[in-house]
Amino acid sequence: MKILICGGAGYIGSHIAKAAADAGHQITIVDNLVTGHQESIAGFEFHQGDIGDLAFMESVLKVNSYDLVMHFCAFSLVGESVKDPASYYQNNVAQTLNLLQTMKQTGHKRLVFSSTAAVYGNPEQQAINENHPKNPINPYGRGKWMVEQILLDYAQAYGMDSVCLRYFNAAGADPSASIGEKHNPETHLIPNILKSVASGGELTLNVFGTDYQTPDGSCVRDYIHVNDLASAHLLAGEYLQSNSGYHAFNLGIGKGFSVLEVIKAAEAVTGQKIEYKPCDRRPGDPPVLVADSTLAQNTLGWQPAYTDIESIIKTAWPWHKNSEAFKPQ
Ligand SMILES: NC(=O)c1ccc[n+]([C@@H]2O[C@H](COP(=O)([O-])OP(=O)(O)OC[C@H]3O[C@@H](n4cnc5c(N)ncnc54)[C@H](O)[C@@H]3O)[C@@H](O)[C@H]2O)c1
Repeated sequence: MKILICGGAGYIGSHIAKAAADAGHQITIVDNLVTGHQESIAGFEFHQGDIGDLAFMESVLKVNSYDLVMHFCAFSLVGESVKDPASYYQNNVAQTLNLLQTMKQTGHKRLVFSSTAAVYGNPEQQAINENHPKNPINPYGRGKWMVEQILLDYAQAYGMDSVCLRYFNAAGADPSASIGEKHNPETHLIPNILKSVASGGELTLNVFGTDYQTPDGSCVRDYIHVNDLASAHLLAGEYLQSNSGYHAFNLGIGKGFSVLEVIKAAEAVTGQKIEYKPCDRRPGDPPVLVADSTLAQNTLGWQPAYTDIESIIKTAWPWHKNSEAFKPQ
């Protein structure tokens, strides 16, 4: 496939670009580098610009006819979305509308969209499937759910077919250690643990909430390896070659690991004792979030290759150990 990856310089997009190129697909990347890194996409055809810039996107989409557009562009800090909803709705919803407009104008009709478990809000059941009520509890989740609903309407009205992939917690790095997770600020657990280890304990590791109704009191999450996200995106792209309409799938491994279990696994991988600071709960953090990804497995034929937390951390550690981003300032 000829694939246009919007947001391809980010953490997940750059891994998918690499996996898709390794699988023989032809890749072009668009990114405004607001949170992405150009060094993560060395060697790829790259156009720097904003997906909301109609003239820029029209120029990119006119030159080539892509079999598929993948859309990873978003701001994705939940807390920030509560403090500054305008930026989140502008970037995540309005700019997406512009992208859809230029796709429509240039005859591009297939999209894979990065959605999130945040569309569900507080879980009403242990393993969340796609039928779980959509009650997002912050502007980030609400914006993603708005885009999903827009995509449903666009499929019905304009025949623009889409797959929305609702990721749980993306984690890990490409085993080549050439790319990895680098957000600023970093709010994700595994990079923060490894950052603390790489700093020799100089950087404090905060654990938010140790009094939840979970076996060890810390939050439980479903961690999915970024290369398993990549295989799901490629299968979703193939699925759209022969299936029309709007589709949504959860992506997780179906198992939860507590924060303290993740720390223990990181100790085993790094061979170092990891100290942490127990902190208050963060508002809006549910105790347990675990995916039921049966639908993706049965419909797309997807299977995650990484199903335990230690093997995920093992891929992340070599990259973090060597990354400038993880050295103390
Ligand atoms: N990381 C996770 O655990 C997770 C979980 C669920 C969903 N998601 C979603 O997956 C997607 C990718 O997440 P990530 O962790 O790789 O984030 P990231 O910030 O590393 O990547 C996003 C990329 O999009 C680019 N971008 C943002 N707005 C843009 C715009 N208007 N025009 C052009 N480029 C733009 C950024 O520069 C960046 O390269 C996001 O949509 C995020 O909401 C991530």
